[in-house]
Amino acid sequence: MSVSFDVEGKVAVITGGAGVLCSEMSTQLGSRGAKVAVLDIAEEGAKEIAAKIVEDGGDAIGVGVDVLDKDSLLKARDVVMDKYGRVDILINGAGGNRADATTGDDMSFFDLPIEALEWVFDLNFMGTVLTTQVFGKIMVDQDEGNIINISSMAAIRPLTRVVGYGAAKAAIDNFTKWMAVDLNQNYSKNIRVNAIAPGFLLTQQNYFLLVDEKTGGDTARGHAIKSHTPMDKYGKPEDLIGAILWLASDASSFVNGTIVPIDGGFSAFSGV
Ligand SMILES: NC(=O)c1ccc[n+]([C@@H]2O[C@H](COP(=O)([O-])OP(=O)(O)OC[C@H]3O[C@@H](n4cnc5c(N)ncnc54)[C@H](O)[C@@H]3O)[C@@H](O)[C@H]2O)c1
Repeated sequence: MSVSFDVEGKVAVITGGAGVLCSEMSTQLGSRGAKVAVLDIAEEGAKEIAAKIVEDGGDAIGVGVDVLDKDSLLKARDVVMDKYGRVDILINGAGGNRADATTGDDMSFFDLPIEALEWVFDLNFMGTVLTTQVFGKIMVDQDEGNIINISSMAAIRPLTRVVGYGAAKAAIDNFTKWMAVDLNQNYSKNIRVNAIAPGFLLTQQNYFLLVDEKTGGDTARGHAIKSHTPMDKYGKPEDLIGAILWLASDASSFVNGTIVPIDGGFSAFSGV
C-alpha cells in the first residue's frame, strides 16, 4: 500500500492566513492543489495571499474574519461554502501575544492589565473554539474532516513572561484532545483533530523578545532559547510544512488527538 500525502482538491480553511506562519501554510497547500480559503482579520492581507496562490496557478480566496465574532465566522463560512461547497481541512492559526500582556522589567505580574491578558487568552483559545464550532459543524454534516490547531512550546514548558499566552496554548492542547474524542464519540469517526506545537521561530510576534534592537544580536532570552534547543537555532516557517502536509493528508489517517512538537528538540531537553 502506498502512503498518500496528497492534498490536491481538498478545501482548506486557514485562519490567521495572512500571518507569517499561516501564509506559508496557505501558499504551500495551494501549490499542492488544495483549494485554500485564507481567513484573517487583516482582510487585505488575506486577499493578497490568496491572489498570490491564484497567480501561481492555484485556487484560493481571501476572506476577512474576526475569529472572536461568531457572526463574522458565519459570514466567512457562507463565503467559503458558496465558493467551494465543503471544508476538508481547518487550520486554526489565528493567535499571538501582545507586549502589554507580557511581564518584564517595567511590568510585574501583579500589575498586568487584565484586559490585555483576556485579549491574548481569547484570541488564542476562544478564537479556536468558536472557529471549530462554525467549521467543525460542516465537517460533521459531511461526516469527514480534519482539524489542525496551533499550540506552542509555552503549553508544555511554561515560558517566563508570557503568562496568558502559555495558559491559552495549554488550553489548546487540552481542547485538541477533548475535541477529537467528542467528535468521534458523538458525531463522526472520520474527523481527526490534532495540533502542531512549533518551537521557537523568529517572527514578528516574538522579535521584540528575542532580538536586541540595538545590537541585532540575541537578547538574554534569545540566548537561553538557543542554548535549550539542541539544534542551536531558531526554526523557519517552512519547517512546519512537512508536519502540516502529513497531518492534513491521509498519510496520518490514524493520528488523532495528538500534539506534534516541531522544535529542534527543545521539548526533549531538560537543560542538563
Ligand atoms: N512564531 C512563532 O514562533 C510561533 C511559535 C509557536 C506558535 N505560534 C502560533 O502560530 C500561530 C501563527 O503565528 P504567527 O507567528 O504566524 O503570527 P502572525 O502575527 O504573523 O499571524 C497571526 C495572524 O492572525 C491574525 N489575527 C489576529 N487576530 C485575529 C482575529 N481576531 N481574527 C482573525 N485573524 C486574526 C493576524 O492578522 C495575523 O495575520 C499563532 O497561533 C501563534 O501563537 C507561533
